[in-house]
Amino acid sequence: MAKRYPLNAKNMNTIIVGAQWGDEGKGKIIDILSKEVDLIVRFQGGNNAGHTVVTQEFKEYIFHLIPSGILHKGKICCIGNGVVVDPKVLLQEINDLKRVGINISNRFKISSLAHVILPYHRILDQLRETKRKHKIGTTGRGIGPCYADKIIRCGIRMIDLLNPRVLREKLLDNLKEKNEIFKKVYQHSGFDFSSIYKEYLNYGKIFSHYICNTSLLLNKAIELKKDILFEGAQGTFLDIDFGTYPFVTSSSTTAGGACIGTGVSPVKINKVVGVAKAYTTRVGEGPFPTEFCAEFAKVMREKGNEFGATTGRPRRCGWLDCVMVKEAVMLNGISELVIMKLDVLDGLKSIKICVAYKYKGKKFKEFPQDLEVLQNVEPVYKEMAGWPIYASKPRVYQDLHPNARAYLNRMQDLAGAKISMVSVGSARQDTIVV
Ligand code: IMP
Repeated sequence: MAKRYPLNAKNMNTIIVGAQWGDEGKGKIIDILSKEVDLIVRFQGGNNAGHTVVTQEFKEYIFHLIPSGILHKGKICCIGNGVVVDPKVLLQEINDLKRVGINISNRFKISSLAHVILPYHRILDQLRETKRKHKIGTTGRGIGPCYADKIIRCGIRMIDLLNPRVLREKLLDNLKEKNEIFKKVYQHSGFDFSSIYKEYLNYGKIFSHYICNTSLLLNKAIELKKDILFEGAQGTFLDIDFGTYPFVTSSSTTAGGACIGTGVSPVKINKVVGVAKAYTTRVGEGPFPTEFCAEFAKVMREKGNEFGATTGRPRRCGWLDCVMVKEAVMLNGISELVIMKLDVLDGLKSIKICVAYKYKGKKFKEFPQDLEVLQNVEPVYKEMAGWPIYASKPRVYQDLHPNARAYLNRMQDLAGAKISMVSVGSARQDTIVV
């Protein structure tokens, strides 16, 4: 077995990414590692994400925009330029934090370059889904349309909310075109300028204290030898380029996105940690080679509480796919893996790991880029013996049943990255540092 190392984020800049289709449990790991760093920054996605943290003090806490590191006193948390921000959701999150007595005033920052989600993005997201032949199953939060506006260069950024003249011009320009589309294509009455303008100017006033040049802040922090945690949302296979396109989100969820989405150079990054569940889940549509049959999926979904943290949708469940995790290790440069929810597999007689795919009689071990192929591959499984339910929660690696350790070893060998932490429950203490 390869040598194991305890996971740490001290004296380095670390990127955390999901190695599957999101919902791997990154929130918990980010929460644990936040203690060791000075700053935590989100670099992509928006309130399509739901990062759940369970603490003794605050019980269960779900974050959609603000990095979960905010729960740790004294840590500076940033929303990077690569994030799309729904101000209404952000305000709600800030107010919720205030309500539980968390003071964020001098330690929360939003990039002035982050794009803003407007009401027409949310509605367009939902209307587009109804028109699509092959639905993506988006979260309906306006993420795709907001990123689309960014790329076609008509987006509104956080800094624009601070300038009434610029906001007016950009909003009028957008509505002129969009209202035509809403009426003609979607038979929707369109949007009124003055109410949006008023609402968003007000957000500008509320957030003015937080909006700044976060790339400057982060780079200055690096100069001062501060440690940064880059918090990825979603997962590798929802990446706009490398994911199972078009069944993906609209941002770069892979490690490269951390640099683009923050303005920190790749040469300043020291480590990439990948988070994977001990099995696989996916929300929304798209190929899923190792998906369980409906009956077993139901059992595992209940056992693992596999319901979306943002939309509450039931997650699709399947066996661990190491062809995918290996691809994620390569795409992100993952040197350490954190395995989540191992406990959900407790009590199973046998467990399968997908080690290769078969298509038209040919076996291969690389993740296919052709969606047609991925949709029709047959997973090649290695079946392993399961382990019983523990009388008391395992606390150290040696407490794990030998079959559970064999499962982790196999995973590590197939994925090509060492496992540094294993999670066996939602609480902070249910974490085994390997
Ligand atoms: P969008 O990001 O809302 O555009 O949704 C695109 C696809 O990504 C859909 O299949 C969503 O279910 C999925 N997705 C978006 N965010 C998350 C997430 O945080 N976890 C899991 N799936 C997500």
